[in-house]
Amino acid sequence: MDALASLKPELERIGADVDRLFGSILAVPADPRAKLYEAMRYAAIGGGKRLRPLLVVAGCGLFHVDRERALRVGLAVECIHVYSLIHDDLPCMDDDDLRRGKATVHRAYDECTAILAGDSLHALAFEILADEATHEDPFVRNELVMELARASGLAGMAGGQMMDLVAEEMTLDLASVTRLQQLKTGALIGFCLEAAGIMGRVPPEGRTSLRGYARDVGLAFQIADDLLDAEGEEEKTGKRVGKDGAAGKETFVSLLGADRARQQAALLVDQAVEHLQTYGAEADLLRAIARFAVERDH
Ligand code: IPE
Ligand code: IPE
Ligand code: MG
Ligand code: MG
Ligand code: MG
Repeated sequence: MDALASLKPELERIGADVDRLFGSILAVPADPRAKLYEAMRYAAIGGGKRLRPLLVVAGCGLFHVDRERALRVGLAVECIHVYSLIHDDLPCMDDDDLRRGKATVHRAYDECTAILAGDSLHALAFEILADEATHEDPFVRNELVMELARASGLAGMAGGQMMDLVAEEMTLDLASVTRLQQLKTGALIGFCLEAAGIMGRVPPEGRTSLRGYARDVGLAFQIADDLLDAEGEEEKTGKRVGKDGAAGKETFVSLLGADRARQQAALLVDQAVEHLQTYGAEADLLRAIARFAVERDH
C-alpha cells in the first residue's frame, strides 16, 4: 500500500484517541469555570492533524512502549500545541479568525477566555506528564517534564514566536529563518521523538538518529506550512491563507521562492528517512509521517 494511504487509518485512530482523552480530562464542571472548560474543549477536541501525538506514538512504537502511556505523552504535547495556536491567533499576535475550520477561540468566546484557555492547557501538559499514570519511574517523568519545558519556552516555541514577531520588522537571512523555525515549530516536534527515547529507556547517546529525523521533519513541516500559507486553500487548511506575505514575514517561501522551498522540503524528508536506516519495518510509520509532513494540503 502507498505510504500515505497507509497513514490514513493511523491518523483517524490517533484523532479518536486524542479526542477521547481530552473528552474525559476536560469534563465540564457545574461551577463558574464551565466557560473555560468549554473553550478548552472547543479548541482541543475534534480538529487538527494530531501530528505531534502521532509522532510520539510512532516513536514509542519502536521501543514497545504501552500505547496508552505513549498517548498521555502525545496528549501533553498536543496541549502545548493547542495553547500555542490559541495564543498565536490572538489579535495581538496573528489576529486570525479561523482555525481548524471554525472560529478562533477569542472569536467564539472572548480574549480573556482564550488567554486563560491557553494558560490552562499549558499547565495541563505538565500535570499529565508529572502524573504516575504516564510512567511509574519519577526520573522518567522528570526528564519528560524537563524536555517539554525546554521545547515550549525560551529555547523553543515561545522564543521562536518572539523571533517570528520581530521578523515582521526586519529582514532575516536564511540561517536566521531556519533558527526561528527550529524554535517555533521544530522544538516541539523534537520533543515528540525525544520523549519516545525517554519512554523507551534509550540513553541520550542512542537518540541521535531520532533527533536527526525530528530536526529534518520539523523544518520540512514548517516549510510546508509556509507553502500552504502562500498557495493553499482555506477550505482545506481550515485557516486563513496569504497572511505571512501580507504581514511581511520572512519565510522559506519569501526567501527561496515556492519552487525551491518545495525542493528543500522534499530534500529534508529524504534526509529524515535516511536517519531511520538502522530501523526496519517498525519505523515505517515514522517514514510515512515524514512524507505526510510535506505532501499535505491541510
Ligand atoms: C500549525 O500546526 C502551526 C505550526 C506550528 C506550523 P499544525 O499544522 O500541526 O496544526 P493542526 O494541529 O493540524 O491544526
Ligand atoms: C505558529 O506559526 C506556530 C506556533 C507556535 C503556534 P504560524 O503563525 O505560521 O501558524 P499558523 O499558520 O497560524 O497555523
Ligand atoms: Mg504566527
Ligand atoms: Mg498564525
Ligand atoms: Mg503559518
